[in-house]
Amino acid sequence: MTKKIAVFASGSGSNFQVIAESFEVEFLFSDHRDAYVVERAQNLNVPAYAFELKEFDNKADYEEAIVDLLEEHQIDLVCLAGYMKIVGPTLLAAYEGRIINIHPAYLPEFPGAHGIQDTWEAGVSQSGVTIHWVDSGVDTGQIIKQVRVPRLPDDCLESFEARIHEAEYALYPQVLKELGVGRK
Ligand code: GRF
Repeated sequence: MTKKIAVFASGSGSNFQVIAESFEVEFLFSDHRDAYVVERAQNLNVPAYAFELKEFDNKADYEEAIVDLLEEHQIDLVCLAGYMKIVGPTLLAAYEGRIINIHPAYLPEFPGAHGIQDTWEAGVSQSGVTIHWVDSGVDTGQIIKQVRVPRLPDDCLESFEARIHEAEYALYPQVLKELGVGRK
């Protein structure tokens, strides 16, 4: 049985696009109604749901609404791809062990929301990309697969960032394939 996936994203959604071009995505969820990723989903004919934390009384209610969607669609695996919220106890209680995340650095190096910027500012000669299971910490869950990405002498932040993203676009599909997600 192939796994049914949902992708969660908050912004541009270039990783979502790469995933949706090769794999069956049951739906996209965005925590920002006006995020560009919602438009990408429409263009790719992937059902999109978008609602915002501020529309709920608290994070538990917000995550309860997400869990309802996941259960309704019988989702086996949640793929975070630029979802900029910490997964809280409500979503984790329902789906721990079934949520993965992509991080634009070589964990445990440079966790947090600004992995690329932090790596750049640290001046290290190499960084990377990591896909890991999500637990209650910030980028602390068990690593599934990671790849090194060099910082080259001629790099500026933009060229370095572009190389990190290229590595992401290669790594996410590899991991999904290994986890048994249905290809298009
Ligand atoms: C990616 O670099 C991802 O690793 C990070 O957020 C970024 C999302 O980019 N968590 P996009 O929305 O997929 O273009």
